[in-house]
Amino acid sequence: MTANFDSPSVLSMHDAGVHFDGVKAVDGVSLSVSRGEVLGLIGPNGSGKTTTLNLLSGMLRPTVGAVMLDDSDLSRLSMRKRVHAGVVRTYQSGRVFERLTVFENVEVAALGAGLRRGAARAAARSTLTQLGLDDVADLPADSLTAGRIRTTAIARALAAQPRFLLLDEPAAGQNETEAVQLIESIRGFAREHGIGVLLVEHDMPVVMGTCDRLHVLDSGRTVIEGEPQRVRKDPQVIEIYFGKRA
Ligand SMILES: Nc1ncnc2c1ncn2[C@@H]1O[C@H](COP(=O)(O)OP(=O)(O)OP(=O)(O)O)[C@@H](O)[C@H]1O
Ligand SMILES: [Mg+2]
Repeated sequence: MTANFDSPSVLSMHDAGVHFDGVKAVDGVSLSVSRGEVLGLIGPNGSGKTTTLNLLSGMLRPTVGAVMLDDSDLSRLSMRKRVHAGVVRTYQSGRVFERLTVFENVEVAALGAGLRRGAARAAARSTLTQLGLDDVADLPADSLTAGRIRTTAIARALAAQPRFLLLDEPAAGQNETEAVQLIESIRGFAREHGIGVLLVEHDMPVVMGTCDRLHVLDSGRTVIEGEPQRVRKDPQVIEIYFGKRA
């Protein structure tokens, strides 16, 4: 399939913030993801990565600032409505229907996104092939390894035909080689289908070669955003990740 960059083309967040009982989990963050690119959102534990993803997906509403899809303000829109607008997410825990087969899991997600039965089955088949899950398609999801359950959760999100895909640590629990492989296949899929991907990940080596740009958070605030090579050399990033000044 050729890339389709029909409107909408940019998902963004503007000076957005949210606090919990005085804790500023996200404190004035602005970022944007274009269709076809992978933006890596990185930072240490508790830096606000999942909360940022929750703001973009509609799981949380911003206390201040806005979430936009091109010129449309999504800030008050429910998660369900955002899914219909093409903004789809996965969870840090990797959620699937454990009793259904891998194929059924993906098919149900495609049906839930409004595809007809034939189209849903076709979408499930091609997504499973692209993510290397063909050999487990007919197994119940709860018989898979943790890594492949996560990959199934990603296949479910992709089969919903997103324009923007928000992934919370999709490669958690996998080694660096597996993580890079998984993210590379997501990147290929994103380019081919014109999907904008926001990828939350805390492992710097994994995001270095796989993301087009990186956005670094610390204590709910932006440290730097830019190309991976530039970000890696930033003194503040070095201090956060390696505990020393460059
Ligand atoms: N529902 C909540 N209630 C209270 N505090 C919260 C809530 N969700 C997040 N926080 C706090 O907000 C901050 C950011 O949390 P968040 O989960 O976004 O971090 P993260 O970068 O995803 O971390 P991790 O790498 O551990 O997944 C943390 O201090 C966290 O304790
Ligand atoms: Mg998190």
